[in-house]
This record gives sequence, structure tokens and C-alpha cells, in this order.
Amino acid sequence: MENPIIEVQKISKNFRGLKAVSDVSFQIKSGGITGMIGPNGAGKSTTFNMICGYYPPSEGKIFYKGKEITHKHPYEYTDMGIARTFQIMKPLGNLPVVDNIVPSAYFGRYGAKSLKEAREIALEVLEFTGLYDKRKVLAKDMGTPDQKRLEMARALATKPEMLFLDEVMAGLNPAETEAAIELIRKINDSGVTIFLIEHIMKAVVSLCERVIVLHHGEKISEGTPEEVMNDPYVMEVYLGKKGGANA
Ligand SMILES: Nc1ncnc2c1ncn2[C@@H]1O[C@H](COP(=O)(O)OP(=O)(O)OP(=O)(O)O)[C@@H](O)[C@H]1O
Ligand SMILES: [Mg+2]
Repeated sequence: MENPIIEVQKISKNFRGLKAVSDVSFQIKSGGITGMIGPNGAGKSTTFNMICGYYPPSEGKIFYKGKEITHKHPYEYTDMGIARTFQIMKPLGNLPVVDNIVPSAYFGRYGAKSLKEAREIALEVLEFTGLYDKRKVLAKDMGTPDQKRLEMARALATKPEMLFLDEVMAGLNPAETEAAIELIRKINDSGVTIFLIEHIMKAVVSLCERVIVLHHGEKISEGTPEEVMNDPYVMEVYLGKKGGANA
């Protein structure tokens, strides 16, 4: 691949005795949408956490636009243009939606210099993500679909070039999933490269050009959605003898 935006080389993560991720390597194409799938506990979130600087890898190297970033801190990632959402949402429940987003605008590539500027950025992002009408609602009073959107809005308020989405469609019904797919496509069309973890295969197929499959911490397949879904080992992991299906 020419000029990948992200490259990981043989990354592993050990949690005491448990090898959560083992020797995983891949590249992410700039400008596209790449997916990561795999059964529960496969090591997907751990892989994200390492690439986003949340945990240092036990072994291996991570590169962003050709520059090694393996041991940098999350705030340095944000300044470089990398943002992420968390699988477990933790909004500031007693604050209105807009105030959940304002702090992000001080970081990353917007780097607001005043509260006024940060609020303007937050409102722009709320408009973009379809949350503008809910800007004054307390975050805890919103349902899952809007809280997932809020996660994305908080990440977008740092003006990322590269966005990591960890199961932003979990718990959504088909219509809400469709709306989330549209938003993800719109984010990508605005020039943001996306790497997403998702269990909903319909979303993976409709959004992703390439898919990486993890199982027991190892990369077991990579290719177009069609290629990985027709890979006999992937089929076995999801549907077969071991009964790991949750896709
Ligand atoms: N901070 C941690 N400390 C100890 N073990 C952890 C930690 N984080 C994850 N693990 C373990 O590492 C393995 C991989 O977990 P991870 O959360 O990366 O899986 P996942 O593929 O994201 O799963 P899911 O689809 O359920 O979100 C699991 O066995 C998990 O219990
Ligand atoms: Mg996870």
C-alpha cells in the first residue's frame, strides 16, 4: 500500500497472563473506511486502545503518516489529528449536550483560543452530526442513538484527520443504524479517514472497502468485505464448530 495513514507492525498486548492481542500487523489506507470485526473478546478494542495511545503496546510499532508514534500520549495523538470514540459511552450526564463538546474544541487541530470560539465550533459540529436541536438537553436524558452521536461529535470537535469508531452502532435499531451509516459516510466524505469496529455486518459491508478480522487476539483474515466473509476460517469462527457467532 502506498502512503498508508496508519501502519501497525507486529503489535501485541499482554494483560498479566492474558495475551489480548498477538503480533498483529496491518495498514490503513488514507481517505477510506476500514473495518475491524471479530467475536467478543477478540482484541478489537485493545488494538484500538494501543493505536490511539491509550495503552502502550507490549511489543511492536505504530506509525502515523510514516512517523513512528508508538509511545506517544493521547493528547499528542489528538494534536496530530487522531480522534476516537469509546465503546462504553461516558458522557457528562448532568451537562447539556453542547457543553459535552466544548472541551474537545480546545484540543486537536481546531485548538480554540476562547470559550466563544469553542462554543462556535461545538455548535457547528452539532449541526453536522444532527444533534443541534438537542444542544440544550442533558446528556443523560438522551437515548443510546443520540449518545453514540455525541461520542462522534466529541471526537469531531478536535478536527481529526483519522477517526477511530468503536461500535458506534451497537444497540441501534435498523432505522437508527441506517442513519448512523449515513453520518459515518458524511464524515468520511468530509475528508476524514475512518477505522471502525463493528458487529453489524450490514454496516461493515455497506461502508468498508477493507476489513480486518481478529480472533483470539490474532489477525485471521483481511480483504474486501466479500473476501473475508467468504474466507472459510472466518466462516468457521462466526458460524461453525466453535459457535462464536455474534455477527
Ligand atoms: N484493561 C484490561 N485488563 C485486563 N484484561 C483486559 C483489559 N482490556 C481487555 N482485556 C481482555 O482482553 C481480551 C480482549 O478484549 P477486547 O476488549 O479488546 O475485545 P473486543 O474484541 O473489543 O471485544 P468486544 O467485541 O466484546 O468489545 C478480553 O479477554 C478482555 O477481557
Ligand atoms: Mg470491544
